[in-house]
Amino acid sequence: MIRPIVLWGNEVLEKPSDSVTNITQAEVQLVQDMIETMYKAPGVGLAAPQIGVSKRVMVTDASGGEDKDHLLTILNPEIVAIDGEQYDEEGCLSIPGFSANVARPKKVVLRGIDLNGKDIVLEGSDLVARAVCHELDHLNVIFFLDHLSFVKRDIIKRRIKKLVRQGKWE
Ligand code: NI
Repeated sequence: MIRPIVLWGNEVLEKPSDSVTNITQAEVQLVQDMIETMYKAPGVGLAAPQIGVSKRVMVTDASGGEDKDHLLTILNPEIVAIDGEQYDEEGCLSIPGFSANVARPKKVVLRGIDLNGKDIVLEGSDLVARAVCHELDHLNVIFFLDHLSFVKRDIIKRRIKKLVRQGKWE
């Protein structure tokens, strides 16, 4: 089921997500909904809090759905290694209409569990690394805005607050 994506300022995006301790049908459905919602948006990644669920679950597909082999699902992700650096434009489905250049590692290795509760290790570079870092940030209440200089961040926040006042941020 495609779920509404909550926007920056929503309280669920403002608290650290809970680890998944028990995988039930609810988690399976959550992942399914996240994948459908990500593809519909369309986006290259989604974190559970973005559809209002405060759990450490994320999905990415750097191909944007072109190639389902690129679909990654990981629960309780942790970064175990990073390498290099890349600097490119980045946006967020919870901050529609804004983007900025953000520095990210060139390569990332993640550890977590899959929907069967099995330990998994995922490795990604370039856009995959960017997407997984971005989504993992959401679980820790970090937005791409937080990686910008104070001045750049403040400009975007002021513009969002103006949209909120105008009732255009929903
Ligand atoms: Ni985002």
